[in-house]
Amino acid sequence: MAETVLNVVGASKRFGGVQALADVGLRIERGMVYGLIGPNGAGKTTLFNVITGLYPPDAGSFELAGRAYRPGAVHEVARAGIARTFQNIRLFAEMTALENVMVARHARTRSGVIGAVLRTAAFRREEAAIARRAHELLDEVGIAHYAGAKARTLSYGDQRRLEIARALATEPTLIALDEPAAGMNATEKLVLRELIERIRGQGHTILLIEHDVHLVMGLCDRVSVLDHGQCIAEGTPAEVQRHEAVIEAYLGAAHVAV
Ligand SMILES: Nc1ncnc2c1ncn2[C@@H]1O[C@H](COP(=O)(O)OP(=O)(O)OP(=O)(O)O)[C@@H](O)[C@H]1O
Ligand SMILES: [Mg+2]
Repeated sequence: MAETVLNVVGASKRFGGVQALADVGLRIERGMVYGLIGPNGAGKTTLFNVITGLYPPDAGSFELAGRAYRPGAVHEVARAGIARTFQNIRLFAEMTALENVMVARHARTRSGVIGAVLRTAAFRREEAAIARRAHELLDEVGIAHYAGAKARTLSYGDQRRLEIARALATEPTLIALDEPAAGMNATEKLVLRELIERIRGQGHTILLIEHDVHLVMGLCDRVSVLDHGQCIAEGTPAEVQRHEAVIEAYLGAAHVAV
């Protein structure tokens, strides 16, 4: 049987009068691309924020690779093995693309602050290894030629790819991507799709929020549909597309088969 990477049961989150998440469950197996779709305000990003420790959940139990974790703090969740990208891109704008990846990679290193201050031989070796790996990751996401460019000078599409490289740098068990195709044109989306498939091919497990139904249906092994904080359908893309509530809530009455 396939190994469960992320298992969320009964996740709930309220903001004042808004029940952003109501008793939502999620079960993702290793090697899957798992899609999370739903209309604007459905609760998709809130589910990401709860899973990754940005917002404390009101209720819910959370397991990563068979171990319970409490998504109380972002760094604890990162240490548990979840990396994410943000719907509103979060990069160090004045740092180069390479430095952005190196900073993310530093979370994995050993020498620590004292080694950095003394610039020990071990530290310098480690630093060189980090730079090499960061270059590889930039190459992997297709922006190695911008290694020396400041993050803020990159196009949106390239900034989103840089975020993916940063996520990969932490060698996560699960990578959560919040609308990675936002602001991309059709060609860029195609390249992104290939990238996500390649990342999956390397054995990564991916949770993907995406509005582009075509991309979701083509890429994902399973899909969950949120609406008003509730999961209204779950299944393979084909199953979900046939679901009455999904057609009404999300795909629209004029749904065209994709
Ligand atoms: N920090 C917050 N404070 C108050 N309300 C919030 C907060 N974050 C989200 N919400 C509310 O929770 C609901 C779900 O928002 P969320 O951002 O999770 O939706 P989404 O599915 O990601 O939508 P989109 O597709 O537009 O990104 C919305 O009503 C939103 O206004
Ligand atoms: Mg969102």
